[in-house]
Amino acid sequence: SSAQLFAGIHIMITAGPTREAIDPVRYISNHSSGKMGFAIAQAAQAMGAKVTLIAGPVELSTPDKVARTDVVSAQDMLNAVEREIDEQDIFIACAAVADYRIAAENTQKLKKKAEELSLTFTQNPDILKTVAQRKQPPFTLGFAAETNDVENYARAKLEKKQLNMIAANDVSIPGLGFNSDRNALLVITKEHTQKLAPASKSALAHELMLLVHSEYKRTHKN
Ligand code: PMT
Repeated sequence: SSAQLFAGIHIMITAGPTREAIDPVRYISNHSSGKMGFAIAQAAQAMGAKVTLIAGPVELSTPDKVARTDVVSAQDMLNAVEREIDEQDIFIACAAVADYRIAAENTQKLKKKAEELSLTFTQNPDILKTVAQRKQPPFTLGFAAETNDVENYARAKLEKKQLNMIAANDVSIPGLGFNSDRNALLVITKEHTQKLAPASKSALAHELMLLVHSEYKRTHKN
């Protein structure tokens, strides 16, 4: 049984999109629904972990016995993560964080004037990279949403961000990935690549957490 595999282990998961304000009434965001991250939170809790879920704006109910903090922007998400990261053994970044925000946020509603409108963006902090670069980082699992060359791009992110593990999904396949109930993952570590075939996000989350458990035990002896 996998019921108590993560007993005594603290796991933090980011999920959903972030929203970056253009002005008080408009924002940019993406199609993440939070379903994948919430399924992971539920699976981890069912395996005995103490789970903290940091959620962007999504319309999902909180899994049983999971502590949830809601955030809006990437900067909010980073702040919420940093507040509790010290207590975490494992950090899982499933959120689709906006890479950019508006450079100078407009405090008043933009008025329709010229035929064209240009907005200037500035880079957001990389939450996963910030966590992985800590002096004593938790075990890190990142996600990679790709449309082509999935394995190569994912492996590059694993190395560049110095992660323990990365789960890549091909978001160009209809019916999988963003906002659907199913997904498929390629789970990559330095030594191994493992394919998790198309399945419901809850079944995949369970399989993924079994892989996390064996890699965590192998690399972080307690
Ligand atoms: O929410 P669903 O509708 O269920 O869809 C699930 C999903 C497709 C969103 C999910 O499976 C997924 O792939 N999440 C990561 C999406 C993503 O933004 O990937 P990325 O390749 O841009 O980012 C790489 C990694 O860095 C991710 O772990 C991401 O959380 C993290 N990141 C990225 C940018 C940033 N500023 N901070 C981060 O922490």
